[in-house]
Amino acid sequence: MQAIDALLQRYSGRSLVEPAPDEATLGLILESATRAPDHGRMRPWRFIVIRSEDRAAFGELLADHLRRTKASVSDEALERERRKAFRAPLIVAVAAVITPEGKIPPIEQILSAGAAAQNMLHATFALGFNAVWKTGGPAYDDGVKRSLGLESKDAIVGFLYMGTDAEGPGNLPRPDWREYVQTWPAR
Ligand SMILES: Cc1cc2nc3c(=O)[nH]c(=O)nc-3n(C[C@H](O)[C@H](O)[C@H](O)COP(=O)(O)O)c2cc1C
Repeated sequence: MQAIDALLQRYSGRSLVEPAPDEATLGLILESATRAPDHGRMRPWRFIVIRSEDRAAFGELLADHLRRTKASVSDEALERERRKAFRAPLIVAVAAVITPEGKIPPIEQILSAGAAAQNMLHATFALGFNAVWKTGGPAYDDGVKRSLGLESKDAIVGFLYMGTDAEGPGNLPRPDWREYVQTWPAR
């Protein structure tokens, strides 16, 4: 697939099933991530790979977060939260390990990790798989960060759920790029 086709056609699959990208394909996806722009060569990226057999443990992290952050939570709600880990056969948490001091502001380190995540979405799509970028409360939670080997100062930019798309692109309306473009100075 041409790069421009991947850029213009990518969509987030709504039903991600087996097979997940195999190890070699995942390697290419992660290599594409490290082509992200990176001011000051900070290399802030961390890619925390959660394979199929470890999804139940990840689901427990999600459920634990819900339990800690909501006053009263039903068993059904906890089970729904656990099931989120099974949305796809492979999950990669993408994070920025932040160097707070120094020339490069944290926002730029986070943006680099975001660019890495976007490279991963496109590489995944170009290689015949699909992925969806999710965050939610767990991405901003210190307990979840700690469990994933990160510190409070670090940023989880997203959980990329990856697999094979079982449904196709659907009919999500796509924006007209002209609506978001201005010429400066205005005339
Ligand atoms: C930083 C970030 C966080 C997101 N978090 C969520 C999320 O938690 N849940 C969700 O349904 N979509 C989330 N999305 C949006 C989806 O990844 C996706 O882009 C959206 O459903 C539109 O689909 P598309 O990628 O086909 O345009 C997030 C997107 C970004 C960039």
